[in-house]
Amino acid sequence: MPLDLPRLAAWLRCPVCSADLEPFAPLTLACANGHRHDVNKRGFVSLLGGGTKHLGDTADMLDARELVLESGAYSPIATAVASAARGDRILDAGAGTGYYLRAALGAAGASLGLAMDLSPQAVTRAVRSSQRVDGLVADTWRPLPARSGTADTILDVFAPRNLPEFHRVLSPHGELVVVVPRADHLGSLRAGGAMLDIPSDKADDVISTSEPLYALHSRESVAYDLPLTPDLRDALVGMGPSARHAAADRLQSAGPDETRVSVDVLRLTRR
Ligand SMILES: C[S@@+](CC[C@H](N)C(=O)[O-])C[C@H]1O[C@@H](n2cnc3c(N)ncnc32)[C@H](O)[C@@H]1O
Ligand SMILES: [Zn+2]
Repeated sequence: MPLDLPRLAAWLRCPVCSADLEPFAPLTLACANGHRHDVNKRGFVSLLGGGTKHLGDTADMLDARELVLESGAYSPIATAVASAARGDRILDAGAGTGYYLRAALGAAGASLGLAMDLSPQAVTRAVRSSQRVDGLVADTWRPLPARSGTADTILDVFAPRNLPEFHRVLSPHGELVVVVPRADHLGSLRAGGAMLDIPSDKADDVISTSEPLYALHSRESVAYDLPLTPDLRDALVGMGPSARHAAADRLQSAGPDETRVSVDVLRLTRR
């Protein structure tokens, strides 16, 4: 599909001066202060500004993630995310391959998505996967190059959160949908040493740290036992942050065949 520059620009503001970005030339966005930003012809723009010290997912991690998600292993999580999302403009922060964003946008309708991720390879895949998804390469830990009040829903699925910036970018009654792993998420793989432990109950951390800006609207636990094939087990390990640390021998020693997937889907309403 041809790149829809006005549609992409409508999400964005200049990372240098925070003025709205507008189409300027066929592959260029610009603000009123003359800062120009090239748009990739694959349909996304990188607004990293001065760069970042964080790492996005690698192509190998994305391949593993795609294998897991396309197998349907996490489809109950996608269903919970889709039922929590609201409105026509959905921004996915740390979108990865765009799997949850597509679920939230639904099969029909006129809703639009913005896939934001630090990894250009991830954003490329997300944009390619749906005609209603535009792409932004940006760092969640920095001021977001997104316009204030532009998103009805922000998704944050197993990805870094910037609660004050998400609050600014949400529309007045906008919603933040956060998915965090519970302590026993993929427990048998963790017990086998193939994956890093989850430090604490992340859902409780999100709820308490978000309190000044967000009200908890609903909370859904999604828990089930996931039958593992060897390929699925390797992909579950390979798609996560532990892939950067996991040595082959630790992969070999991964635990029993069954593993429990246990997540919390939180729906927070902007105050
Ligand atoms: C665990 S993956 C989750 C991806 C997707 N939400 C999913 O569940 O399929 C985390 C994602 O966050 C991205 N990411 C990591 N640090 C980031 C940052 N500082 N800013 C933006 N994205 C980041 C990674 O590139 C990766 O795609
Ligand atoms: Zn500017």
